[in-house]
Amino acid sequence: MGSGYGYSTAWFAKAVKENGGGVVHHVVWDEKLSQMATGHLSRLGYGDLIQYHVAEAVETLRQVSGPFDLIFNDINKEAYPASLTLIKEKLRPGGALIVDNILWSGRIFDKKDSSPATEGVREFTKTITNDSDWIVSLVPVRDGVIVAYKK
Ligand SMILES: C[S@@+](CC[C@H](N)C(=O)[O-])C[C@H]1O[C@@H](n2cnc3c(N)ncnc32)[C@H](O)[C@@H]1O
Repeated sequence: MGSGYGYSTAWFAKAVKENGGGVVHHVVWDEKLSQMATGHLSRLGYGDLIQYHVAEAVETLRQVSGPFDLIFNDINKEAYPASLTLIKEKLRPGGALIVDNILWSGRIFDKKDSSPATEGVREFTKTITNDSDWIVSLVPVRDGVIVAYKK
């Protein structure tokens, strides 16, 4: 969700290919980035594993049936809280959720920062860590990544 020019998508596609195949969805609302991703991923030999969507990611997730083994969320941060209910519905039990920018360059600790993006990251983190349906780890790599297992 928020797949950009396809860097992370390439790693997911590699894993899927090496584990017997499947489908990887790439979704970004910018046509130009989607086209760049299409070029990169087909040159890497992953073209036929990937379905491309040029659209808003949460709406796209709503329309794709699933269930999914893994969801990677990297959309606009103010949309993080509202995305969680649908992600939980679409991920299979035992599936993994990865969410980027959970430290938000340290802004989550800045009491003076109440911007919608920072509040979005805070609220998402509070909600998922208080929900007993998830086992959640916050990995402090680069900008902070949540890796969560859906029970
Ligand atoms: C941080 S970049 C992508 C990096 C990518 N996830 C990766 O790891 O390779 C996020 C991209 O998602 C797009 N984006 C942000 N919010 C989105 C949304 N709600 N729906 C679709 N695309 C979105 C942004 O415009 C940007 O191009």
